[in-house]
Amino acid sequence: MTQTIIVVGGQWGDEGKGKIVDFLAEKADVVVRYAGGNNAGHTVVVGEKKFKFHLIPSGIVHQKLNVIANGTVVDPEVLVSEIDNLERMGFKIDESKLVISSNAHTILPKHKEEDNPQKSEQAKKIGTTGRGIGPCYRDKIARTGMRISEFVKADSEIATRLRPLVKDTCFIINKAIDEGKRVLFEGAQGTLLDIDHGTYPFVTSSNPTAGGALTGSGVGPTKIDSVIGIFKAYTTRVGAGPFPTELGSEEQTNAEGRWEDIAANYEKALEEALGKANEGDEYYQGKYMRLKGVEYGTTTGRPRRTGWFDGVAARYSVMINGMSAMAIMKLDVLGGLRKIKICTAYEVDGEVTENFVLNTEKLWKVKPIYEEMPGWEEDISGAKSYEDLPEEAQNYLKRIEEIANAKIAIVSVGPRRDQTIILDEKPLFD
Ligand code: GDP
Ligand code: IMO
Ligand code: MG
Repeated sequence: MTQTIIVVGGQWGDEGKGKIVDFLAEKADVVVRYAGGNNAGHTVVVGEKKFKFHLIPSGIVHQKLNVIANGTVVDPEVLVSEIDNLERMGFKIDESKLVISSNAHTILPKHKEEDNPQKSEQAKKIGTTGRGIGPCYRDKIARTGMRISEFVKADSEIATRLRPLVKDTCFIINKAIDEGKRVLFEGAQGTLLDIDHGTYPFVTSSNPTAGGALTGSGVGPTKIDSVIGIFKAYTTRVGAGPFPTELGSEEQTNAEGRWEDIAANYEKALEEALGKANEGDEYYQGKYMRLKGVEYGTTTGRPRRTGWFDGVAARYSVMINGMSAMAIMKLDVLGGLRKIKICTAYEVDGEVTENFVLNTEKLWKVKPIYEEMPGWEEDISGAKSYEDLPEEAQNYLKRIEEIANAKIAIVSVGPRRDQTIILDEKPLFD
């Protein structure tokens, strides 16, 4: 029986966690955000409607109990505006739908000022989202931060609004588990952005990994039934840092500009990118993924760097999180590419390794070793079962399972709920 599930990002974030959380939340009773803050951007598509969440768990669409747990950092202004937006859309938000841990930390104006990539060399070097995340976590660890329980004591409008939602949430979550309720833990960011296990210093300042779900919510490891790792069928990264399977360079990607800059010319640019990609131009292979996958940051609008699926990093991520199974997202995006590559090993300093390289200086120098597989021409966004997928897509998924050393439970072929193929029910809610 699966009563508790952790959803964790397997790559550098934006894997599609929001979609899967929304999908699984239908059967959940409680949805818990356990790490990060409004640096996250989770897009959920329901019918014709598109929701973008930064802080409030994506389970809110289902009107379940949503918890912003102790491992998170909360910008009170952002939270209130997110609540206002949802209420405008007709959702009722009160303490039966949303609670905030008294122990979560408060992002203060000074944290945001310090984290401005336009003004701070440090923020610029990492390419942070500029939301004050790093400085807030630093103050938490230095024991000089402000918990939300303190913040809501103030005599301000925002404090007054948030006060009824602030609870000792560890008791609420554990009671729900003891009563047999289904609890879903919603990760933000991804394993390779983890402060301990990611590509330091090009990381975020929390533990997005499965371990972070435990400390970040106050739930013990014996209470967890399943860990689902979310991966794109390729790789993206937004912000700076090493990216072994990147196609083209960070400079080339940034030079293309934001979504607004290309939107008017989209169809033509997509066609051009596909033509050049199939002639073997690597930069255009990456550009094709960016355009077709609409790889532009939910939080900052920045173009995401793109590359082939990194099997070495995926295997590492499966290990670090003890993943029960994987969800492979955005498989539809690869359609049209005649050849698809998958990274199976790294070459570094003349040696071949199948292990992820933890030394960031070395990781910059890694040369990916690829296996090439035939792609598919078909549009698979209407596929309803594994059998509906072209043989080439099935073979690609099988190879991912072998290389990453984990089974695939979910394949996603589009942003909507009905574009989700279940391969294995066992690690999901009964
Ligand atoms: P998260 O941060 O992990 O929740 O991911 P984001 O929401 O930032 O980015 C994922 C984007 O891909 C969103 O715009 C989703 O609507 C979209 N998406 C999710 N799954 C699929 C899929 O299978 N195919 C396509 N084409 N888009 C998807
Ligand atoms: P979701 O939950 C992708 C990246 C930033 C930057 C680094 C540090 O949508 O997957 P920070 O503001 O956290 O100090 O920035 O981490 N980053 C993300 N990249 N998706 C995210 O969240 C991210 N949250 C932070 O781009 O490189
Ligand atoms: Mg995102």
